[in-house]
Amino acid sequence: MSEPTTTIAVLSERVPHERRVAMIPSDVHRLKSKARFIVERGAGEAAGFSDQAYADAGAEIVDLTVVSAKADVVLAVRPVHDSAALHPGTVLISLAGRNPDLAGELEARGVVHLALERMPRITRAQSMDVLSSQASVAGYAAVIQAAGMLDVLLPMMTTAAGTIKPAKMIALGAGVAGLQAIATARRLGAIVYGFDVREAAREQVESLSAKFVFPEIKLSATEGTGGYASDQSENEQAALRDALSPVLSGMQIVVTSAQIPGRPAPLLIDDATIASMGPGTVIVDLAAESGGNTSRTIADEIVVVGGVQIAGPTNLPSLIATDASRLFSGNVYALLDHLVDPEAGLRLRHDDEITNALLGVRAVAPASAAA
Ligand code: NAI
Repeated sequence: MSEPTTTIAVLSERVPHERRVAMIPSDVHRLKSKARFIVERGAGEAAGFSDQAYADAGAEIVDLTVVSAKADVVLAVRPVHDSAALHPGTVLISLAGRNPDLAGELEARGVVHLALERMPRITRAQSMDVLSSQASVAGYAAVIQAAGMLDVLLPMMTTAAGTIKPAKMIALGAGVAGLQAIATARRLGAIVYGFDVREAAREQVESLSAKFVFPEIKLSATEGTGGYASDQSENEQAALRDALSPVLSGMQIVVTSAQIPGRPAPLLIDDATIASMGPGTVIVDLAAESGGNTSRTIADEIVVVGGVQIAGPTNLPSLIATDASRLFSGNVYALLDHLVDPEAGLRLRHDDEITNALLGVRAVAPASAAA
C-alpha cells in the first residue's frame, strides 16, 4: 500500500484553562493508514495523554514551526488565533466559538475552516457531533458541581439519627445536556423533574424515570427545524416564566440548558422567581455563554442572590478533560474517516451535505427544483 499523502497536526490548545485535546493517541493509531500525524509537543498532557503515547501510536512529536511547515490539516478544540500554525491552504478543523471576527480572519489568511458547531443533526453525522458529546459531559458535570455546592444530601438517607428526605432537581431544557443532567441526578438519588417546550421531550424525560412538567399554558409552536425548538414570543415567554415559578420554588437544584441555536438564550427564571426560591438552592446555568436562562447569570461566575447560588460555567467539559477529549476525538475521527482518502488526501466535495454544512455553504438547489 502506498504512503498516505495528507499530514494532519494535533495542536496544543491556546485558550487559558482549556485542557482538552482534539485527537487522542488511539484515534491517531486508527487513522494511521489514511494520514501521517504530527503532534505539537505537550498537546495532550493536560488531558492525560503523553507525547510518548502519541509516538507509540505512530505520530511524530514536533514544535510549532514544523506544524506550520508540514500540516495540511490542523486539529484543535478551540479555534487557533496563533497564526503560526496556519498557512494559506491549511484546513483547520475546530470549534468556532463566539468570535464574530474569526471567519474573516481565517479567510484573509487563506485558511479553510470546518467549524464543528455547524455539524448537521442528521443520522449520518451523529457520530461526528461534538456539540452533543460535549453537552453530555456538561450535563453530568453540572449536577456534580451543584451537588458539591449544596448543603443538603441528594439521596434519601435513613440513619439511627433520623431520615433525610431526597433533594429535588429540575432540568429546564431537556436536550442532550438536560437529559444527561436528569440521568445523573437520578443516579445520585434525587427526585427529578424535566421541562422542555418540545412535547417530544416528554417521552425521553419519562424514560429516565423523571417527571415531565408541562405548565397549563398554550404555546403557538414548539417544534422548529432540525429537531430544535422554535422561538417563543415575548408574551409566551413571560407566561412560561410565571407558570414555572411555583414549580421552581420547591427545588434544591435547577440545571438550565434551554437554547435555540443562533439566538440569545430564553429567559426562564427572573428576579421574582429567584426571590421565591429557598436559600441554599443551586442553579447551574449551562446557557451562560449565550446570555443565560436566568436574569442574574454571569458567565464563569457564581452569583449569590438572597442565598440562591447561580453558577454560569462555560467550559465544564474541560474539567473532565480525559473523557471529554476521548469523545471529542471520537467525533473528529469519524469526520476524518469520512473526509480523508489515503491516496487523494482530504476531499472537500460540494456534493457532500456534511462538508457544505461545516463550511457554512448553502447547498445549491438543482436547476429543476428552482422553479
Ligand atoms: P439542545 O439543542 O440539545 O438542547 C436545548 C434544549 O432547550 C432543546 O431541547 C430545546 O427544545 C430546549 N428549549 C429551547 N427553548 C426553550 C424554552 N424556552 N424553554 C425550555 N426549553 C427550551 O442543546 P444541548 O446540546 O443540550 O446544549 C444545551 C446548552 O448547553 C447550550 O446552550 C450549549 O451551548 C450549552 N453547553 C454548555 C456547556 C458548558 O460548559 N456550559 C458545554 C456544552 C453545551
